[in-house]
Amino acid sequence: MGLYQTHRPRDLADVKGQKEAVGIIRGHLERGVFPPATLYYGPSGTGKTTLARYVCKELGCKPPNLQLVNAADDRGIDTVRSIRDKMGSAPLMGKYRIWIFDECHQWTSQAQSVLLEMLEDAPDHVKFMLCTTDPQKLLPTIRGRCAEIKTKELDEDDLYQALLSVCLKEEKLDLSKRVVKKTPEEKVLRLIAEKAEGSARAAIQRLDDISGLKTTEEQLRAIMLKDVKSWSKSIAQLLIDPEKTVWADVAEQLKGKTNDEAESIRQQIMGWANSVLLDQGIPKWAIKQGKKFAPNQKRMERAHRILEIFECLGPYDGGLHRLTRFCYEACNS
Ligand SMILES: Nc1ncnc2c1ncn2[C@@H]1O[C@H](COP(=O)(O)OP(=O)(O)O)[C@@H](O)[C@H]1O
Ligand SMILES: [Mg+2]
Repeated sequence: MGLYQTHRPRDLADVKGQKEAVGIIRGHLERGVFPPATLYYGPSGTGKTTLARYVCKELGCKPPNLQLVNAADDRGIDTVRSIRDKMGSAPLMGKYRIWIFDECHQWTSQAQSVLLEMLEDAPDHVKFMLCTTDPQKLLPTIRGRCAEIKTKELDEDDLYQALLSVCLKEEKLDLSKRVVKKTPEEKVLRLIAEKAEGSARAAIQRLDDISGLKTTEEQLRAIMLKDVKSWSKSIAQLLIDPEKTVWADVAEQLKGKTNDEAESIRQQIMGWANSVLLDQGIPKWAIKQGKKFAPNQKRMERAHRILEIFECLGPYDGGLHRLTRFCYEACNS
């Protein structure tokens, strides 16, 4: 089991960055009224399944009365029909029988039609929880029958808090079971948060990936290198931090790029260096905290040097070989 599975929040207080969703759920719990069907939607890894499961727990619903169906594994009409046929019978214990339909946008329209019938005919003891990243793919008539709870991408600070909370829980675990032997330095967690693109699952997965590495330097390097989506930013970050810069790492990032990509990488690196200058070298997370941080002269000088190299070596021909030379020069200056 991955870290993100072991550390699924059991408490609303541990669900970061979803104030609105949590507020709605608290309201339902306090009033003791639960809609027959709830649609949880939002980006991947932001807490949909976690919240749905939490509500089930609060309603005292456990297996076999609680069933989790992942539509990504099973898109079959047969599954839906068999649920329809058995939902009439009363729960074995407790008040409710609940079905969580994960990734339910993947259901065929035929299966969705049966689901709609189920929503219309469900007895009082039945609750449905639909989870999806893609609510537009559901029949509008299904959506019309659901209370909606929306989760949002987590901002970097919430991601940082989620990571920290996993680390602190790891510290409390029995030594033999611990994956994260020692909570990484704040800058490691901040870097992970920055690269997770709003997904708590992705962030915790990344923490898992680096948990075997001992030094902060190794951890930072691993995070940088693994990042495929924002490689331009990674290159810029590698270049801006002369202590951490290893030409081999930059070269690795440039490998396999095309001439077309080279120009957009160059543009993005310059954009990044420019924003470092504008922010006076203070990292974004520090700015967000709103405290006073001293300008970072060293980073500003690096950013300035990068801009010089990347825009002043004569007219740019867009080729990968020129970009490679710019990067090499920035690395070694
Ligand atoms: N809002 C959040 N706060 C803290 N951890 C979260 C949050 N959302 C997701 N996670 C982490 O990611 C894992 C997967 O979350 P999940 O609820 O299955 O995401 P989703 O269903 O939105 O794709 C959880 O077990 C938890 O470790
Ligand atoms: Mg999910």
